[in-house]
Amino acid sequence: MAYRWKNDLTHADVTPRAAFLNRRQIIGGLGAGTILGALGSRAGAQEAAALEPNSYEEITSYNNYYEFGTGKDDPARYAGALTSSPWSVKIDGLVDNPGAFAMQDILDRMTIEERIYRFRCVEAWSMVVPWNGFELADLLNLAGVQSSARYVAFETALRPTEMPGVAYRVLDWPYVEGLRLDEALHPLTFMATGIYGKPIPNQNGAPLRLVVPWKYGFKSIKSIVRITLTDREPPTSWNKAGPNEYGFYSNVNPEVDHPRWSQATERLVGGGLFAKRQPTLMFNGYEQEVAGLYAGMDLARNF
Ligand code: MTE
Repeated sequence: MAYRWKNDLTHADVTPRAAFLNRRQIIGGLGAGTILGALGSRAGAQEAAALEPNSYEEITSYNNYYEFGTGKDDPARYAGALTSSPWSVKIDGLVDNPGAFAMQDILDRMTIEERIYRFRCVEAWSMVVPWNGFELADLLNLAGVQSSARYVAFETALRPTEMPGVAYRVLDWPYVEGLRLDEALHPLTFMATGIYGKPIPNQNGAPLRLVVPWKYGFKSIKSIVRITLTDREPPTSWNKAGPNEYGFYSNVNPEVDHPRWSQATERLVGGGLFAKRQPTLMFNGYEQEVAGLYAGMDLARNF
């Protein structure tokens, strides 16, 4: 079987410039002790070395960001209107130091690293993205998480004058998301500020977006303005829109289908017209790292 996946991929599968950059960044990244090294996961590190990121063009021109429209090319077309600098993120709720954190102050206090992650949308397409950013846990540490906190709630900016899509009630704006605190503190959970070493474009969620690589892409909320530590499971946009279709957890799981389509396989964006769909991996390939978070849970019920 010739799935276009892992070792089957060659540099010919991505744009020449991107492929050149990728190879160097993968090697450099692993050498510098990325997350996979830190977790001591040899299998994971080998997989990461075999991942060939999508091209910059693919990652920044095929997007979901409904505040700018529901078409895949709407965000690239309209998100330029978003004022993403200056920016500040309010961190409140069950924290020792609540307040507004200026984006520049956050950047000054974080060490930016690269993470090459698989990205799997609930719509059954996928990409491989070289993100730049820092662990969410490091940001939460700035605010000092109190021991009574159990969940983290996130909120996207709501700017009707800059976001043409919010005139339509496709979702209940602002876009909100949430994680259990242990998920939020997991070392794979990332706050992205860049792609391919460049500042993250507006259509991908500038200036700061969440990336949770073992969950469906809609959990990775964009252009975050507020993070709230709480003791209750927070509401999430897609769960509010379709509770039977989108659960709070939304872990990638090839064995639990969406009510309207299979989640067993996925289409790699940029894979070419005749590429076979590739099998979807449990927890999107991060099973070794995250399965323990859900020990004893019924993953079909807690979808
Ligand atoms: N965040 C906000 N605020 N609004 C959105 O519409 N779409 C989600 C997620 N984050 C979305 C969002 C979905 S469905 C996906 S698949 C990813 O963003 C897409 O991220 P990308 O465009 O960087 O690939």
